[in-house]
Amino acid sequence: MKIAIIIGSTRPGRKGEAVAQWVHDIAAKRGDAQYEIVDIADFTLPHIDEPFPPMMGRYSQPHSHVWAEKIASYDGFVFVTPEYNHAPNGALKNAIDFLYAEWNHKAAAFVGYGVSGGVRAVEHLRLILANVAMATVRPQVELSLIHDFAEMTHLTPGAHQEAAVGAMLDDLALWVGALKPAREARIAA
Ligand SMILES: Cc1cc2nc3c(=O)[nH]c(=O)nc-3n(C[C@H](O)[C@H](O)[C@H](O)COP(=O)(O)O)c2cc1C
Repeated sequence: MKIAIIIGSTRPGRKGEAVAQWVHDIAAKRGDAQYEIVDIADFTLPHIDEPFPPMMGRYSQPHSHVWAEKIASYDGFVFVTPEYNHAPNGALKNAIDFLYAEWNHKAAAFVGYGVSGGVRAVEHLRLILANVAMATVRPQVELSLIHDFAEMTHLTPGAHQEAAVGAMLDDLALWVGALKPAREARIAA
């Protein structure tokens, strides 16, 4: 099982990178899947510039193919998401919008961060991902800018947060493990 930990923010000075690294450090100790960090910023995606809806699978731009190939290689995802104006940030939404089949019938989990733990961004993401046929697990990690970041800047997660990541990854691994053979059987049929 391969699970990507996706850094949603592409902003210079973003907190997302430290959050993703912290999640990866916890996940890497588990041994139930191969966990990798995927940084949207590395793919320099423009605002979606495809002439056909991704659902049609007719990608035309080289960057779409590169992004599609990367996402297709994973069985599940942890979305590390900031909250911008009570929603996920635009770069993450755009990166999701670019693809369709590569997300289908896979499982996702969320690590949100913000003044209120990024909960509103995560709720939006659950709705968005439902439309690309992803299953989203119930447990989520909510990092408070006030309590889990020193001076609202440096990640200093509370002691309970590592257990929260563990509970989230337990469910994610369960669902990724259940969906992978089902997806493969459907492709083979
Ligand atoms: C455009 C913008 C809008 C924001 N809106 C919210 C918000 O609605 N709720 C919130 O908790 N934090 C909000 N913030 C603060 C972010 O949570 C904080 O800047 C965080 O560090 C952003 O994540 P990043 O550094 O990984 O990009 C906003 C920040 C930006 C840049």
